[in-house]
Amino acid sequence: MKLLVTGGAGFIGSNFVHHVVEHTDHRVTVLDALTYAGNRASLAGLPADRVAFVHGDITDAALVDGLFAETDAVVHYAAESHNDNSLDDPRPFLETNIVGTYTLLEAARRRDVRFHHISTDEVYGDLELDDPARFTETTPYNPSSPYSSTKAGSDLLVRAWVRSFGVQVTISNCSNNYGPYQHVEKFIPRQITNIIRGIRPRLYGAGQNVRDWIHADDHSSAVLTILEKGRIGETYLIGADGERNNKHVVELILSLMGQDPDAYDHVADRAGHDLRYAIDSSKLRTELGWEPQFADFEAGLAATIDWYRENESWWAPAKDATEAFYARKGQ
Ligand code: NAD
Ligand code: DAU
Repeated sequence: MKLLVTGGAGFIGSNFVHHVVEHTDHRVTVLDALTYAGNRASLAGLPADRVAFVHGDITDAALVDGLFAETDAVVHYAAESHNDNSLDDPRPFLETNIVGTYTLLEAARRRDVRFHHISTDEVYGDLELDDPARFTETTPYNPSSPYSSTKAGSDLLVRAWVRSFGVQVTISNCSNNYGPYQHVEKFIPRQITNIIRGIRPRLYGAGQNVRDWIHADDHSSAVLTILEKGRIGETYLIGADGERNNKHVVELILSLMGQDPDAYDHVADRAGHDLRYAIDSSKLRTELGWEPQFADFEAGLAATIDWYRENESWWAPAKDATEAFYARKGQ
C-alpha cells in the first residue's frame, strides 16, 4: 500500500512511520507543515525508498488533492495538539483541526481514498476520580478545552462525511501517549528534561488528575490494525489500562532518575483542567484482536527517560522557548 501520513513529523505520527517501516512493506509519504511541533529529525535514518517527505499544509486543497491522487490510504495525525497552547491562542486549532480535516475529507470524497482519522479521548470530557465508568464508543461528546472541542468538531465532520457522502473512513480515539519524539511541552518529557537540566519538575494544582497512559508504539499497532481490519464508518477507542495520577507519575520519574521523589513544585493549575480520562478498549480488542505490548508502564517510562538522556540534541533546541512560555503563565 501507498500511505499518506499527515503530521508524520510530529510525536505520534513519526512513531507510526517508524512502526510501519519496521512491521510492513507499505510505502509512506509524510505531509507535514513543520510547525513548532514538527521535526524532520524524528524521521532521520528511515529508508528513502520507503519514506518520502512533503513539506506542506493540510489546508492547502490543491496540494492535498494531488497527493490523494497517488495514495491508497491516508492516516490523519496532523493537528495542533497541546491544551495549554489552545488556552493561550485557539485560532490555529480551528484552522488546522477543523479546516484542515475538512480539506482532507473533501479530497477523500473526490478521490475515493480510504481515510483513517486520529482523534483523542478528550472529546468525551472528563470523569470523576471515584467513578468506576470508563469512556466507550457510545459515551456522549462533552469536550472542555479549545483543543478538545476542535478535535470533537473534526470527528463530527468525519462522521457527517461518512453518512452524507459514503467516504471510506474509520476513527480512533486514543488516551495519553508517551514515548520517544514527544515535544518537551508535554507533561512527561517536560519533567524528564527539566531534571536533566537541573530544573525542578512542575505539577499543576494538587496533581490528582488522572491520565490513561499508553506507549506510542502500542497506539501505532492499534492504528495499523484498524486500517487493515476495521469496519468502515466505525469508531474504535484505543487504550492500554494505564490510569495513573500526575503526582504518581512525577514521583516515579524522579525516582527512576535517581532523585528525591518529593523534589518537585506545585504550580498554577490549568484552566478548566480535565480531572480523569479512562478508556475501555474492549471493542478494539474483541472485534479486531488487538493487544498492547507495553504492559509495564514503569519499564516503558524508564526506556523513555533513557531516550531523552541519549537524544538531547533532538529536544534541546525547543527547551528554552517552551520554559519561557510556561514561565509567563506561572507554570
Ligand atoms: P504533535 O503536536 O506532536 O504533532 C503534530 C504534527 O502535525 C506536527 O508535526 C506538526 O508540524 C503537524 N501539523 C500541525 N499543523 C499542520 C498543518 N496545518 N498541516 C500539516 N501539518 C501540520 O501531536 P501528537 O501528540 O503527535 O498528536 C498527533 C495526533 O494524535 C493529533 O491529531 C492528536 O489530537 C492525536 N492524539 C494525541 C494524543 C497524545 O497523547 N499526544 C493522544 C490521542 C490522540
Ligand atoms: O488524552 C489524550 C490527550 O493527551 C491528547 O489529545 C493531547 O494531544 C495530549 O497533549 C494529551 O493531553 P493532556 O492535556 O492530558 O497532556 P499534557 O501532557 O499537556 O498533560 C498531562 C497532564 O499533566 C495533565 O493533567 C496536565 C498535567 N501537567 C502538564 C504539564 C505540561 C502538569 O501537571 N505539569 C506540566 O508541566
